[in-house]
Amino acid sequence: MGIIYHQNTQELHLFNSELSYIIKIQKNGGLMNLYYGKRIHDKEDFGYLQPQASRPLTVYESPGNSGYSLQYIRREYPDYGRGDFRTPAYLIRQENGSRITAFSYDSHKIYRGKKKLEGLPATYAENDEDADTLEIRLTDAVTNAVIVLSYTIFNKLPVIARHVQLINGGTQNLVLERALSASIDLPDSDYEMVYLTGAWARERHVRTRKLDHGISSIGSIRGASSAEYNPFFALKRPAATEDTGEVYGFCFIYSGNHLEQAEVDTDQNCRVSIGIHPDTFEWALTPGETFVTPEAVFVYTDYGLNAMSQTFHCLFKEHLMQSTWKDRQRPVLINNWEATEMDFTENKILDIATAAKDLGIELFVLDDGWFGGREDDTKGLGDWFVTNFDKLPEGIEGLSAKITDLGLQFGLWFEPEMVNPGTKLYDEHPDWILCPAERTPSPGRNQYVLDFTRDEVVDYIYDLMEKVLSGAHISYVKWDMNRYITECYSTGTPALSQGKTFHKYILGVYRLYEKLTLRFPDILFESCASGGARFDPGILYYAPQAWTSDDTDAVERIKIQYGTSLVYPVSSMGAHVSQVPNQQTGRCTPLKTRGDVAMFGAFGYELDITALDKEEKTAVKEQITFVKKHRLLLQHGTFYRLKSPFRENAAAWMMVSPDRTEAIAAYYNLLGTPNCRFDRLFLRGLDPDRKYHMNGSTEVYYGDELMYAGIPIPHTGVCESNVDFSSFVFYLSAL
Ligand code: DGJ
Repeated sequence: MGIIYHQNTQELHLFNSELSYIIKIQKNGGLMNLYYGKRIHDKEDFGYLQPQASRPLTVYESPGNSGYSLQYIRREYPDYGRGDFRTPAYLIRQENGSRITAFSYDSHKIYRGKKKLEGLPATYAENDEDADTLEIRLTDAVTNAVIVLSYTIFNKLPVIARHVQLINGGTQNLVLERALSASIDLPDSDYEMVYLTGAWARERHVRTRKLDHGISSIGSIRGASSAEYNPFFALKRPAATEDTGEVYGFCFIYSGNHLEQAEVDTDQNCRVSIGIHPDTFEWALTPGETFVTPEAVFVYTDYGLNAMSQTFHCLFKEHLMQSTWKDRQRPVLINNWEATEMDFTENKILDIATAAKDLGIELFVLDDGWFGGREDDTKGLGDWFVTNFDKLPEGIEGLSAKITDLGLQFGLWFEPEMVNPGTKLYDEHPDWILCPAERTPSPGRNQYVLDFTRDEVVDYIYDLMEKVLSGAHISYVKWDMNRYITECYSTGTPALSQGKTFHKYILGVYRLYEKLTLRFPDILFESCASGGARFDPGILYYAPQAWTSDDTDAVERIKIQYGTSLVYPVSSMGAHVSQVPNQQTGRCTPLKTRGDVAMFGAFGYELDITALDKEEKTAVKEQITFVKKHRLLLQHGTFYRLKSPFRENAAAWMMVSPDRTEAIAAYYNLLGTPNCRFDRLFLRGLDPDRKYHMNGSTEVYYGDELMYAGIPIPHTGVCESNVDFSSFVFYLSAL
């Protein structure tokens, strides 16, 4: 059991082989964090770690207790208004307008395993040995409200998962103005905050800033986790590297509005807060009702950022993704979007599919443009059935049969949450969009957002999709979402509950995912939001891969995939080889480099393969053969970042098999430099004592030599061409 309760000292110690997390139940019933970090021995009393100070301008909790102020205490789930002036984790408005509460310890329970979070994506324990859970129940004597804090520690991973239940156990109506999922106070602030930021076509770039007094925060109020800020950040010691040093990683398992922040007070304490963004949230709780927050996960390591990422990757693949595809090799696909956009005929599609099959591709994906009156992006969304039989004479059923007859699997694009004016759906249900009736909704890509807070809307879309998916041979679904949410108001919700709309919307999205993935457990779902605007752990629970970015330029993709790898497994990153000049950047990169980048992902092509010349087709065939041969390793090995494109004019990463008998490393030159330095690539994760062959040669290299002496990168002469955007792949196999 990874949780010990010391009754005499009222201390709770959660631990596994890598971390310790110690909570003290204080005499006044408050909860204090005594320690969170590297595993330490268990003992009865760590009380000396509690700060005690009697200082001017400090408010004390009770008369005669002048050493004890909430201002100094490292708190587990802090309130506001009784002496702690830092960011609170929750605020409860009562009928008299007061927001003051004083929750104190009531009881706790410890059990093996982990409970499900109804209606929400969350980590799970496959069996009771995987994890232990502590639930602490707190009550407020004035309102009779109850807070249950839940902590699950995973036994084989340095991870703690937290969420909170807020229960109205009294007789008055309460309003949650803020209900974060977790808060933790760290006793110093000597950290750099690492986070992922960007925009459309440049998602999840890595940024690092030193923490200083005040608040460093990221988040989204766009209705989606967003391309702008991913729901993740890490606090690393300034000296920590990819492979060494202390790192605390924080991630929020949620796809809607979110807030992650680190607040440094003037005593250099650091409060981390994670949860639903309070600016767009208010939740009325009538007597007897409960609100359950989404889950936040904490990772601790003192082996650097690579170890943090590997922990997230493992956690998501083994304890988050539900799909039957989570640990399977992903089919090599071809998607028609960049080749044809919406302007296709069945013959053109079949030509692409036939050429793709010849080259070894396994799955054809028909993207946007197959349904309703979808000739361009002003029409069709919401009418998920074929009406244009000039385009698809035998509908999706007929096309899917022809594709599967070619020996390919068939996949289909949807954008379930959206509607265009002029469709059957919009004409019949104009009030099914998010917007107050007296206002004009703001269009985004000519479309409006359906009111997924309403069950009847979700059920309507489910019925249409279910009909298409059950009526054809479909193995894959791409679920797109191409605008953020504005005018977030549900006409189906009473005025006092409008603060629930953003969260209920995401619950509606999860409900549709849940229904579809249960009904079609063998379909591989790929999420997408104009590329990677909703690439988050909440969606990964349902869809084990996501379209990483609309930007398919190899150089841009190196940065995007590098940043994404901080949190998300390689198998979850949809990555395609596309044509040059690239549609997003106009840049020309070698076909080899495009393949060498995309192979570290759920690999595919997104170009008119019929237009390739003979030489290109041969190269594509070779890429596909290589990927198929090594894809278990490429998609499900242990990933190491070796060189950052955000710091250098080159990038490198590698995958190692679990038994360390195989590895594939890739080195990418960004811009060529004349008279360049003689760079070396230092590998990671190999068995130092084993001998390896490289790229099939008979020469032998020890693992230690590859890691510590490094591989010299083939360099160029003084001013050769073909250096820009070149790449090298090293395949290592143990003797
Ligand atoms: C945005 C996606 O990211 C693209 O891949 C494509 O599916 C288009 N939408 C289609 O509208």
